[in-house]
Amino acid sequence: MAIEASGPPVIDRVRAIVAEYRSERGALLPILHAIQAEFGCVDHEIVPLLAAELNISRADVHGVVSFYSDFRSEPGGRTDVRLCRAEACQAVGAEQLVAHAEQALGVKLGQTTADRSITLNQVFCLGNCALGPAAQVNGRVYGRVDPSRLDTVLATETAAS
Ligand code: FES
Repeated sequence: MAIEASGPPVIDRVRAIVAEYRSERGALLPILHAIQAEFGCVDHEIVPLLAAELNISRADVHGVVSFYSDFRSEPGGRTDVRLCRAEACQAVGAEQLVAHAEQALGVKLGQTTADRSITLNQVFCLGNCALGPAAQVNGRVYGRVDPSRLDTVLATETAAS
């Protein structure tokens, strides 16, 4: 369990966040973003509370959380790494880059390193197709990322985070 969703402070905060956005159309998305910003993830244990507060089904909440890759059910690492695996990047070595990253970090896509320094994820197009393979690290997009460039970017980004 990533956070203690049953404790009063978490419940109170979730209710306060819901109250802040409840009147907006499509309130669930901004609520989920706010929860992730505050707690680092959208813990599974928060789903029933959100469903009850918004008078929607747990399945509806869970469906939105799992549809959008931005939402995590566990806190991510301090450095967020997303490697593009869409077609244009695949044509210029994205899969080799993914294999290198998994091997170098000792994790699979979707996982966080044991020291919680890096979360490795995939993404499907960063809008940087002409400069593939593309990667996004802590929100910054990098192009022509071969394994050695990825190592260099990660060394710089992890030192800064
Ligand atoms: S296909 Fe990789 S950035 Fe578009």
